[in-house]
This record gives sequence, structure tokens and C-alpha cells, in this order.
Amino acid sequence: MKELSGGLHWRLMRGEDIPQVSAIAAAIHEDFFEDDAVFIERLKLYPAGCMVLEGEKGLVGYGVSHPWRRFRIPALNTLLGQLPADADTYYLHDIALLPEARSGGAARRVVAMMAGQAMRDGFATMSLVAVNGSPGFWQKQGFSAADVPELGEKLLSYSSDAQYMMRELSSA
Ligand SMILES: CC(C)(COP(=O)(O)OP(=O)(O)OC[C@H]1O[C@@H](n2cnc3c(N)ncnc32)[C@H](O)[C@@H]1OP(=O)(O)O)[C@@H](O)C(=O)NCCC(=O)NCCS
Repeated sequence: MKELSGGLHWRLMRGEDIPQVSAIAAAIHEDFFEDDAVFIERLKLYPAGCMVLEGEKGLVGYGVSHPWRRFRIPALNTLLGQLPADADTYYLHDIALLPEARSGGAARRVVAMMAGQAMRDGFATMSLVAVNGSPGFWQKQGFSAADVPELGEKLLSYSSDAQYMMRELSSA
């Protein structure tokens, strides 16, 4: 895989990465705790959508994504059980980079990799819940906010400013 500045590169997540992934998640997402079991299950259900950002001294970020249903959002810190047989969108569960790994285009790169995976799997859209002041980042990656009133309560369980966003892949 092509290197980013600072010697960073994205690679597929492996089982032994989970403790580091979990530590990064805990450091970044103080308000969105998820058990190791959530990462372990996502990796088992859809390994092609789970990536880690590796530097010289270890992991500095991760991205988790998988097929899902449009206008539905998985509850936080909850196992999926299985991927929906009628999945019709590619869901970006989370992308998180430690502060020292940001602003070098690494997140943009992994979104492009995930978009490639989504298209290889035949999906025409990607979707996500934007939190943490990230909508501006997602807009730059081609996503726009979708107003889905029935998601209101679920979005609030993420945070008061959580936004459901989608991106068409065919026109991207
Ligand atoms: C959001 C996050 C993944 C972005 O990572 P990053 O490495 O800074 O992103 P990149 O360097 O790839 O930036 C790509 C572009 O988005 C812009 N950007 C990055 N974060 C942004 C933000 N919060 N708001 C608006 N624009 C942003 C960059 O300036 C860059 O713009 P350019 O293409 O015009 O140069 C990172 O800040 C992060 O891990 N945040 C904490 C976890 C989080 O909130 N994840 C999202 C959960 S939904």
C-alpha cells in the first residue's frame, strides 16, 4: 500500500491489533465507549472493511466499515450478530486517528479505500453518523447530511449534534 507522509500506511486490521485499536478508541472517543467485542465482531463479520493506520512506533488510527441498511444506524457498543442479507449501503462505523496522525490526508485516503471496497461489493452509497464536529471533514469526502426524522432519537443516543450523512458512489 502507498505510504503517506510521516511513514504512515493503512493496512487491513488483524486480530492481534484489537488491544491497540481499543486503546486508540478509548483515547479519542471518551463519550462513545465500545467494548473490544464490538471491534472483534466487526473484524469477523467484514474483515475487508477494517483497517489500521500504522506508523514506525505502532498503530495511530483505525477505520471500521461494513455493509448495512440505508437510513438505519447500529446502536453504539452493540454487537450486530450478522450483516443484513439485504444490505443496501456501505456504512462507515468509525474512522479515528490519534492527534499526531491527523492533517496529513490519512483519513481522506482511508475513505477512498473504503469507497473502493464499497463499489467492488456493488454498493451505490456510503452512509455514516457524523459526530465530534466532523461533518466538515465528511462533506469534503463527498457526503451530505440527510434529514431522516425517524432516526432522531437514535442520533441523540450518539450525541446532540450527531448527523446522518450519505454519499452517492456512482457519481463520486
Ligand atoms: C475526523 C478525522 C478522522 C480527520 O482526520 P485528518 O487526518 O485530519 O483528515 P485529512 O488530513 O485526511 O483531511 C482531509 C480534509 O478534511 C479536512 N478536515 C479534517 N478534519 C476536518 C474537520 N473536523 N472539519 C472540517 N474539515 C476537516 C482537512 O482540512 C482536509 O481538507 P483538504 O482536503 O481541503 O486539504 C480526525 O480529525 C479524527 O480522527 N477525529 C477524531 C475522531 C472522529 O471524530 N472521527 C469521526 C467520527 S464520525
